[in-house]
Amino acid sequence: MTITLREITEDNHESVLAVEITRDQERFVTTVRDSLAEAAAHPEGNPWFRAVYADEHPVGFVMLSWDVEPRPPEVNGPWFLWKLLIDHRHQRSGYGREVVRQVVELVRAHGGTEVLTSHVPGEGGPAGFYARLGFVPRGDLDPDGEVILRLPLDG
Ligand SMILES: CC(C)(COP(=O)(O)OP(=O)(O)OC[C@H]1O[C@@H](n2cnc3c(N)ncnc32)[C@H](O)[C@@H]1OP(=O)(O)O)[C@@H](O)C(=O)NCCC(=O)NCCS
Repeated sequence: MTITLREITEDNHESVLAVEITRDQERFVTTVRDSLAEAAAHPEGNPWFRAVYADEHPVGFVMLSWDVEPRPPEVNGPWFLWKLLIDHRHQRSGYGREVVRQVVELVRAHGGTEVLTSHVPGEGGPAGFYARLGFVPRGDLDPDGEVILRLPLDG
């Protein structure tokens, strides 16, 4: 299975919108549709997003603040993993890890030295996933009470 990050176009828009998380997981991340609306509403966050494909099948969505000037507490950056979701039928298959690996490569190629993200704390949330990938708490919360994490890109 090859994981690729692809632009969302008129041709694949509907199939990317069909990527689903469970109702319970909507506590932790917005749907693809709502994430795209959030991107449109927040140009100051410099949103960059891609569909995640496993071979020729859309299985997820990823969105970053791309090399944005940090204006805390509202805008974190320069490289902020804003959304990451893998369809519930394809979770725990290593796709999330591979997406983060590819994002890290892109960020590193553009001179970034750390990737930030944040998550809503709680049972069933992504804290364990981010910890497995090496993200560590930065020690602060965003204005919504989300825990801010950082992944240092050493070496
Ligand atoms: C969180 C999410 C992106 C993880 O993607 P995934 O493809 O299921 O994760 P992977 O299969 O790549 O898992 C990588 C590692 O993290 C672990 N892991 C995955 N989800 C985990 C979780 N919720 N809690 C603890 N560990 C988790 C896996 O067991 C694996 O561990 P390993 O190194 O021992 O093999 C996905 O479950 C998802 O979309 N969840 C709903 C939306 C969400 O919460 N997104 C994050 C918003 S900030």
